Amino acid sequence: MMKTIQLNNGIEIPSPGLGTYHLGRNDEEVYRAVRHAIEVGYRHIDSAAFYDNEEPVGKAIRESNVPREELFITTKLWGSDIKENHIEKAFENSLHRLNVGYIDLYLVHWPVKEMIAATWKEMERIYQSGRVKAIGVSNHLIHHLETLLQQAEIIPAVNQVELHPFLVMQELQNYCSEKGIVVESWSPLGSSKIPLLTDSRIEEIATRKGKSTAQVILRWNLQKQIIPLPKSSDWQRQHENFSLFDFSLTADEIVEIDRLDRNHRTGVHPDEIAF
Ligand SMILES: NC(=O)c1ccc[n+]([C@@H]2O[C@H](COP(=O)([O-])OP(=O)(O)OC[C@H]3O[C@@H](n4cnc5c(N)ncnc54)[C@H](OP(=O)(O)O)[C@@H]3O)[C@@H](O)[C@H]2O)c1
Repeated sequence: MMKTIQLNNGIEIPSPGLGTYHLGRNDEEVYRAVRHAIEVGYRHIDSAAFYDNEEPVGKAIRESNVPREELFITTKLWGSDIKENHIEKAFENSLHRLNVGYIDLYLVHWPVKEMIAATWKEMERIYQSGRVKAIGVSNHLIHHLETLLQQAEIIPAVNQVELHPFLVMQELQNYCSEKGIVVESWSPLGSSKIPLLTDSRIEEIATRKGKSTAQVILRWNLQKQIIPLPKSSDWQRQHENFSLFDFSLTADEIVEIDRLDRNHRTGVHPDEIAF
């Protein structure tokens, strides 16, 4: 069973997606991991120019036995390309490296201060050229979105942010939901940097459900209408992270996980990134 969420322009986005940052030590490993994920059932692959993996990701997509229109490919515009005013060129380079005809979702990877509205104008132009099915942002907090929306003609379809039970970002989730922006979670499992998968309250729920803690966290995402992007290079864990549709959490269990929030970031704060 496959779940999709409808974006604000009618496009269906499959959930969960496969994270691909550091998916392999070289192109061959990335290629094999994406091929395997597609065999497992993933239909949504999250790449970025910054990950330096668009070529093997694209090759795996082209050589999979799944029709292109059944797969959903995201890539992202890096900050230095914004700063140096290379947005169109950066997009063309991503399109060329992926070589899969069109891109499903193109995201502004990080907000570049003072350039948020101007960046979005360029994103809108790229969208209107028909080479991408949807456009969105990543790492945008409420104040970034407010700046963007003041001059936007198109509302971002997606905001991809660091989000997990130790960083719930409920206010941002509510804001995005009001505006019709779907939230995706990066480092949904805490990126192995924090003791999230061994948290005793999540372990209790997992034991009750006969599932792993990773599955409980990913299911929490799905039930909150968040699209998680777990990364795994391991065949078995790819399968585990995709096996989320034969159980559900109760409303109380969702609240219990929400309460683990401690505003703990594993990555850079979006106001502190510099290009
Ligand atoms: N937009 C942005 O700025 C941004 C920033 C960071 C990440 N991302 C995206 O989000 C994706 C996910 O984030 P992430 O890679 O940082 O972290 P993550 O998906 O939270 O965690 C990945 C780590 O957890 C391990 N893991 C995966 N499944 C597991 C399981 N079932 N049980 C135990 N361990 C498991 C992985 O090891 P194995 O591979 O060995 O399984 C890896 O070490 C990235 O790959 C990327 O696509 C976006």
